[in-house]
Amino acid sequence: MKILGIETSCDETAISLIEVDEATNTVTVLGNRVHSQIDMHVPHGGVFPMLAKREHAKNLVPVLKSVLEEVDMAKAAVPYKIDDLSILKRDPELLDAFESFIPTIKKPEIDFISVTVGPGLEPALWVGITFAQVLSRVWNIPIVPCHHMEGHILTGLIDKVHDSVLKSGAHKPRFDLLDRRILYPALSLLISGGHTQIILIEKIGGHGANSSYKIVGDTRDDAVGECFDKTARMLGLAYPGGPKISVLAAEARDTNIASPIVLPRPMINTDDLDFSFSGLKTAVLYAVKNATNDGKEPLPENFIKGIAREIEDAITDVLVSKMRGAIEKYAVETLIIGGGVVANTHIRKALQDLAAECTIKILLPQTDHATDNGLMIALAGYFNKDKAFAPDSNEIQTLKAAGTSPLGPRI
Ligand code: KG4
Ligand code: ZN
Repeated sequence: MKILGIETSCDETAISLIEVDEATNTVTVLGNRVHSQIDMHVPHGGVFPMLAKREHAKNLVPVLKSVLEEVDMAKAAVPYKIDDLSILKRDPELLDAFESFIPTIKKPEIDFISVTVGPGLEPALWVGITFAQVLSRVWNIPIVPCHHMEGHILTGLIDKVHDSVLKSGAHKPRFDLLDRRILYPALSLLISGGHTQIILIEKIGGHGANSSYKIVGDTRDDAVGECFDKTARMLGLAYPGGPKISVLAAEARDTNIASPIVLPRPMINTDDLDFSFSGLKTAVLYAVKNATNDGKEPLPENFIKGIAREIEDAITDVLVSKMRGAIEKYAVETLIIGGGVVANTHIRKALQDLAAECTIKILLPQTDHATDNGLMIALAGYFNKDKAFAPDSNEIQTLKAAGTSPLGPRI
């Protein structure tokens, strides 16, 4: 079964083509591309939704083309004519790129398309959904709406990657899917730029009304990634600041640079599973004001390194403490961690130590699958394939017209 996954919820235009072998429960990654817009958003200090949408419109066809080129894309003998592309008329750049590429190739072997429908930046989501919808019509294949956060959960199910040689002689990564080896109840911690959630999982797959995912902990204000990015900005580090904080924190630990102040660990002792990170952000703001004499002097280098370490430590302490509580409360057997912040080595290690201490299994995505990608959406499509819309269905269109994504902000 071949699935094309399309992800445009934020600032990555990402497409992946996978082949799932259900008998062996393995997945071969036939093509996988992520086009990051980060450089475009740096001057804004964050992702600007309309700019993100424009960039997706520009990049979707080139990204698809490079994915299909990975699988011996065949040219059409004669470029064919597409009757109705009116749904692309609001995106002239995407329409032009679509018209000048898609009719020149033969319909690729793809069973269905999966696309992120939420949560995310609405203009960015819509352009991806529209693109998926028009592809589904032109190629006459179904389309599966996917939840971005479910995609992040599923990146933890990728086992060791093997080099697989296809009949064509091409070498492709292939991995075992770990879903059949999960012990339930499982608990997922999702830590990204937009979310900090603890999710209780009774079974992988199934969102909406049939959801087997239940949110048992959530942030009351900023998400973890957002906290990293905003505090990094206060320290003069460019967007996205999370990875930069983690590099500086590691340097501080290696060279024994201590933090100039102790930051709060918000809500660490509350007996719920919720988070709050805005107090941490405010504490950094005041520390920076003091250290710079109200912005009149530059921040000393060791202050930046020391406080980066303390930011990472404070966030890690809160995450570990809440997860320890959640593991006990739900007698959890497996932890599945997902979201861009899982790329943080210090947090990964702390969560691995916690799982070892509680003698439970932990599944962590490889660092290169942690941030947004098309592979996670192709996998989400696989686990929700029974929810496919027919190519001529207007259901997705109706939801778009209502100005909402089908799944809303929750799983
Ligand atoms: O999941 P993701 O790619 O996008 C969202 O869905 O939000 O996550 C992006 C977030 C950003 O806030 C980024 O700063 C953070 O993940 N991030 C990190 C690290 N790598 C990415 N935060 C801390 N340490 C890192 N190494
Ligand atoms: Zn994400």
